[in-house]
Amino acid sequence: MSELNIGIVGLGRLGRRHALNLRDRIRGAQLVAACSPLDEELGWAAEQLPGVHRHHTLEAMLAEPQVQAVFLVTPTALHAEQIIACLRAGKHVFCEKPLALNVEDCQKVEAVAADYPQLKAMVGFVRRFDASYQDAAEKLQQGLVGQPYLLRSQTCDLNDENGFFVKFAPSSGGIFMDCSIHDIDLARWLLGSPKPVRVWATGTNALHPALADCGDVDNGVAMLEFADGKLACFYASRTQAHGHETLTEIFASAGRLSVGANPRANRVDISDAHGVRNECVQDFYQRFAEAFVSEAQHFVDAVLHNQPLALSLADATEATRIGLAITQALRSKQVVEL
Ligand code: NAI
Repeated sequence: MSELNIGIVGLGRLGRRHALNLRDRIRGAQLVAACSPLDEELGWAAEQLPGVHRHHTLEAMLAEPQVQAVFLVTPTALHAEQIIACLRAGKHVFCEKPLALNVEDCQKVEAVAADYPQLKAMVGFVRRFDASYQDAAEKLQQGLVGQPYLLRSQTCDLNDENGFFVKFAPSSGGIFMDCSIHDIDLARWLLGSPKPVRVWATGTNALHPALADCGDVDNGVAMLEFADGKLACFYASRTQAHGHETLTEIFASAGRLSVGANPRANRVDISDAHGVRNECVQDFYQRFAEAFVSEAQHFVDAVLHNQPLALSLADATEATRIGLAITQALRSKQVVEL
């Protein structure tokens, strides 16, 4: 197989980005179908994705024999059932993170995927495909800074004064499932997948008190302890004044690696009467645009050349399991054992 015919489901904030990447930037990818329940989004597809077949339902798209793989960029609550539907229809599937909002659904997906070993199924933890994180992972592997024992990682969004995201908070699973899930996956990946044993978390609503109605916070911190003694600290925020700041530090026996210590938008420094400063990336996509391309290329290559995927469904299940425990700790104010 030299080309993979792909259908995309979900043409919202991130789905449109994936669609344009598949249209323009992914070698071996042929975007042949797009699906959204909304006419407005299918109108966008008609303009931006000429020649692509448009569908209102996943079922209709899956009935197209030419579709060999599906990109799911839909609300998190739909991921598990939609992955299962894709696999049962004989399609390879890439799904945005997180895999699901409960462990039972993750395990159902794993069980169905095991029935279709010839099909690739991958959840998009995009940071694993970012050049800087990959470099840090290699340096850890080479022992450059010795043995890692603590990872401190944060996902902090620019404050949205309109509180637009408050509307989506109930279906997102909360700040730790939505944002820190990336940091959780990084902790497992960069610390060598140790077994998690207990978590504690707390949070506050600094600017968006309406989040409390669904048990969520706009700033949360969590601590995770692993069985081998390694530790992880997570910070997630919706209220940063300067931009989007994803920062990860790995403390090790002979040094420390930091990724993203300054969320600079580019290499320009401004020196003036206020001092020396730089502009910052404003959102996750600006920070990870190239990683989204590398991630999609990895998936397409894995399908076309029958290569192993960089991460498994079990990795995605484990991220959900830890994210849920942290959310439980936040809500109960108790330490949660895993
Ligand atoms: P969004 O709300 O902008 O888009 C959701 C899309 O799904 C819309 O096009 C909507 O019409 C479509 N949709 C809803 N119900 C559907 C159904 N039954 N069948 C087919 N399509 C349906 O959401 P956004 O921000 O694009 O997020 C989508 C997913 O991507 C979420 O799971 C989110 O967690 C993930 N995400 C991942 C990020 C990352 O850093 N990897 C960043 C942002 C989002």
